[in-house]
Amino acid sequence: MESILITGGAGFIGQNLVHAWRAARPTDRLVVLDAMAYAANIRSLQPLIADRSIVFVKGDVRDAALIRSLFEEHNPTRVAHLAAESHVDRSIVDPEAFLQTNVLGTFTLLNTALDAWRSAGALGHARFLHVSTDEVYGSLGPADPPFSESSPYRPNSPYAASKAASDHLVRAYVTTYGMPALITNCSNNYGPYQHPEKLIPLMIIHALEGKPLPVYGDGSNIRDWLHVSDHCDALLAVLARGRIGETYNVGGGNERNNRDVVGLICDTLDRAFARDTRLAARFPSCPAATGGSCRSLISYVTDRPGHDHRYAIDSTKLAGELGNRPGIDFEHGLEPTVQWYLDHESWWRDVTSGAYKAWIDKNYGFRIAV
Ligand code: NAD
Ligand code: TYD
Repeated sequence: MESILITGGAGFIGQNLVHAWRAARPTDRLVVLDAMAYAANIRSLQPLIADRSIVFVKGDVRDAALIRSLFEEHNPTRVAHLAAESHVDRSIVDPEAFLQTNVLGTFTLLNTALDAWRSAGALGHARFLHVSTDEVYGSLGPADPPFSESSPYRPNSPYAASKAASDHLVRAYVTTYGMPALITNCSNNYGPYQHPEKLIPLMIIHALEGKPLPVYGDGSNIRDWLHVSDHCDALLAVLARGRIGETYNVGGGNERNNRDVVGLICDTLDRAFARDTRLAARFPSCPAATGGSCRSLISYVTDRPGHDHRYAIDSTKLAGELGNRPGIDFEHGLEPTVQWYLDHESWWRDVTSGAYKAWIDKNYGFRIAV
């Protein structure tokens, strides 16, 4: 039995990781720390909180005193650090929040974990996994080879720069202080619980509401789509068997341009409406409700400044060293993802209305341990 601290556990990947961890290692003590910023939602964690399968703490990774108290109380020997500001467009509008959480937050967590593990004589068997992004490597041209772990860092957005800074800090802590840390750099995730500000849920929800589907630029930008459950499997493998001080790239092997991704979402929704005639009554503004196609909503809009053209990941190291490979190809992963949003309308309405967040503040306060 281990005690593990998951930061950002109420976010998209964090919630999926909490469930994946619980399923894979049911006897571990799981402590989830999350500031409950706008992208967070603990609805899916509530049954685990209620039956005491996890301890949920509302708090900030920049709060050293809180982190110290969590180490004193729960003695985690594993940390999976996912808490972050994660949206490129928001980083363009408000970069400071990204420096605060992604850089200062990572520093505070690293430093406090190092102190705690040193004092407990736990450095020899503890592990700190820093979850990062392929965006630190910058942008690829159409014929460039995919990013490998030795690709140079060339971040282009404030988000990518803040994640790059945090990766460098983690690396420096390994080299300077012997911090038992590992880094993963993954490609774009998709799947259940993703906040509707990100491409895939945004397009699904806009289409259901009959709103334009805003594709930036000409839609030729390419991302390598990784199903979140494949990502969680990789995180479990790296935490369990990865080599300290190493970086592992995690990709989905699913390069698609945005035009094709949005087109596929539209086709998937059109098919869902044709299959289930009750959807027309629930979403009357969707073109598919009246026999049209969601593709009619596609609208190309002003590009994102500094928009990276292409990301692609070479996951050879992860597969070769740890035997971990993604199992879900994009078309197979997209269909159930679209269905998940159709089946969880109240979830995304809560997230988009802000009412759920207000409820959380009222009911949970600063710190809750059950
Ligand atoms: P998310 O935005 O859905 O969740 C982030 C979580 O962090 C939220 O629950 C938020 O409340 C929490 N948080 C924010 N600031 C905090 C703070 N100061 N203290 C404590 N908690 C705080 O993001 P995600 O998509 O789940 O991403 C998780 C991690 O994976 C991030 O580090 C991100 O950089 C990385 N990543 C994500 C993707 C992707 O496609 N989603 C791709 C590559 C890397
Ligand atoms: P996003 O989900 O924001 O992830 P990232 O910027 O981290 O890759 O965007 C994925 C791609 O979709 C990216 O190329 C930007 C594009 N995009 C749009 O075309 N329209 C949108 O409304 C959004 C949110 C993204």
